[in-house]
Amino acid sequence: MSTPTEAPPALDMDALMAFVFRAVDEVGATLNAALVVLGDKLGYYRDLAAHGPTTPAELAERTGTAEPYAREWLNAQAAGDYLTYDPPSGRYTLPPEQAVALTVEDSPAFLPGFFQLALGTVHDVDHVLDAARSGGGYGWHEHVTDVHVGCERFFRPSYHAHLVDEWLPALDGVVEKLQAGALVADVGCGHGASTVLMAQAFPESRFVGSDYHPESIATARQRAADAGVSDRIRFEVASAQELPGTGFDLVTMFDCLHDMGDPVGAAEQVRRALAPDGTWMVVEPMAGDHVEDNLNPVGRAYYGFSTLLCTPASLSQDVGLALGTQAGPARIRDVATAAGFGRFASVAETPFNRVLEIRA
Ligand SMILES: C[S@@+](CC[C@H](N)C(=O)[O-])C[C@H]1O[C@@H](n2cnc3c(N)ncnc32)[C@H](O)[C@@H]1O
Repeated sequence: MSTPTEAPPALDMDALMAFVFRAVDEVGATLNAALVVLGDKLGYYRDLAAHGPTTPAELAERTGTAEPYAREWLNAQAAGDYLTYDPPSGRYTLPPEQAVALTVEDSPAFLPGFFQLALGTVHDVDHVLDAARSGGGYGWHEHVTDVHVGCERFFRPSYHAHLVDEWLPALDGVVEKLQAGALVADVGCGHGASTVLMAQAFPESRFVGSDYHPESIATARQRAADAGVSDRIRFEVASAQELPGTGFDLVTMFDCLHDMGDPVGAAEQVRRALAPDGTWMVVEPMAGDHVEDNLNPVGRAYYGFSTLLCTPASLSQDVGLALGTQAGPARIRDVATAAGFGRFASVAETPFNRVLEIRA
């Protein structure tokens, strides 16, 4: 006897086609990540910002690039509304607001670093494919340089806009100590953007920046020399679980706790290294505690980085806790509590970051 089979549900063809066309836009956006990085590295955006309405031949001539590339890039940018196009004159224009977002490195709206970080991350996807199958990880230090430089260029404008004027003043009594002369450890400092900004703002204080990635520390030393603050900062290659020194008035971690394999071990080291009334400042990507809190454009980008960059980084290290980029404050509090910290407060936030104050 044959079993009756249910008829498949009728498809909503409009919904299907709407999804397909949304995906076409996202394929364009995927390619656009490379186009933005290309426009940044070839100087196309800076040239357009400086010269106004431009033809492909003019852009190619002024940037020393081949005209067919300039032409196709301009067309792709116009199709994506990054540029406007004027058919009668055949000229392309970078609108002033987009010129800020695409050319002003210090602006909190600056975007090329975000794209550079994303493109470098996507570049390494085959390693993550292998890691997902084996359950292993892929270390921060193993990624292409665009990941390290893009990270610095993405986060630095936000630190430049908020760290000295908003985030440090949100911590109880910390600015007074920094003005008087404090000892500060900036752990997982990468290229040292946050360390250099703090050293510039508080000349009486002394800073120790550390990171487990030797090439990042070499760059951080260069950044401090370029900024004229090498006399106030010592950079060391060290993992957070081996944080060098004691008696710190302030320990900072910018966008790195969730990348660590053993954040509880790192937190225990912070407790040991802090002065008795010291403060641990943790800056983490903006996130709520529940998945549904993060189902928005920022959460989408960060869950993408989490899958391809931060979670593999954590899994490449001992313990491999894999907090994820969207851990949320409750899970960070659990890490602090497990290390013996008693006081925990969320003291400031931006669309991209949350600032936590943790004390004994
Ligand atoms: C997303 S980057 C942030 C870098 C820097 N704090 C910033 O805001 O630009 C994460 C950093 O954490 C560092 N890191 C990861 N695991 C670490 C560990 N166990 N100990 C020390 N640094 C670590 C990486 O080398 C990388 O520089």
